[in-house]
Amino acid sequence: MGFYPLIRRLLFLVEPEKVHHITVQLIKIGLQIPLASKILKGDVKYQERLSKTVAGLNFHNPIGLAAGFDKNALFYEEMGALGFGFVEVGTVTPLAQDGNTKPRLFRLPKDKALINRMGFNNYGVDAMVEQLKKRKDKKLIVGGNIGKNKITLNEQAANDYFICFEKLHSYVDYFVVNVSSPNTPNLRALQDKDSLLEILGGIQERNEKKEIAKPVFLKIAPDLSNEQLDEIINIVEVCNIAGIIATNTTISREGLQSSKFEVEKMGAGGLSGLPLKNRSMEVLRYLRTKSKASLIIISSGGIMDAREAEERIDAGADLIQLYTGFIYEGPWLISRIKQALLNKINYPKL
Ligand code: FNR
Repeated sequence: MGFYPLIRRLLFLVEPEKVHHITVQLIKIGLQIPLASKILKGDVKYQERLSKTVAGLNFHNPIGLAAGFDKNALFYEEMGALGFGFVEVGTVTPLAQDGNTKPRLFRLPKDKALINRMGFNNYGVDAMVEQLKKRKDKKLIVGGNIGKNKITLNEQAANDYFICFEKLHSYVDYFVVNVSSPNTPNLRALQDKDSLLEILGGIQERNEKKEIAKPVFLKIAPDLSNEQLDEIINIVEVCNIAGIIATNTTISREGLQSSKFEVEKMGAGGLSGLPLKNRSMEVLRYLRTKSKASLIIISSGGIMDAREAEERIDAGADLIQLYTGFIYEGPWLISRIKQALLNKINYPKL
């Protein structure tokens, strides 16, 4: 939409976390008004050619809303109505928690980026279950992204994941084990071999006992070395989970256009958006070359335009996810990506 830069300028006048709530309300209202709804949804509606079966699930299209946008499963259906093929809710933890003190979300407009240290603010898994019970659109794929409470020691962390898994199992289509947020102290240490074997092995053991097993993905940080990535591929294969989401936000501050002073003033947190693009792509390519073809990869990180979305698919991503691109480009980015994929003669690859 040609006028989005103007809307963005207005929205960016308001403090980021506040604007998040305002925008969601505006989208909810807009979807009720026929003309506004038509504008919000963009030009490309449902197209059979965009639908895709991945991990046994039928996605209307391969473009998903990444975790952290709808942390409490309050508006996943509206996000589906905007055109996303899937929505990942969470990260949710067993108990409700406030997250870090505000301000904890910052914009870097010169870099088309965000820095956040939200710290898994959420209403807890029981509240999420209540929201998911209201689910009407069963065709929209909804994933549950699960984590541990800040007060839970890493030695007991696996149990937090098991609690969320058990409670959500009947209500989501797939799971994501999030051990890669930089904003919960020591969470990323759970990416080591023993912790992963305990968490993923335990989840898969429970999963296989269910009448219907749900696909499980591991979401990883972009800051892992190749050796760590090799180890993760091995663990994912040993635990027999469906695949990997690559990647979460980075703790790196390399190559930013924003002034060092500005960035330092924002403080700690995960960087997302354009500066993450190259590293996310690099991780995707590495995983694709090193893993079996059956390993599913969902690519997330720095997808800000249709060209990048196409490149991720070409590089072997089965699905893609957006967060920061959605903030900077608005809901019309979804439609632009759909159009670009439809323009590809060889999409979907047979
Ligand atoms: C996130 N992200 C995130 N990821 C996750 O697994 N659980 C979470 O709770 C959150 N929370 C969150 C909050 C905010 C404000 C942002 C910007 C991001 C990470 C997100 O899902 C995504 O993986 C990264 O942001 C990279 O993609 P983009 O933003 O570059 O498209």
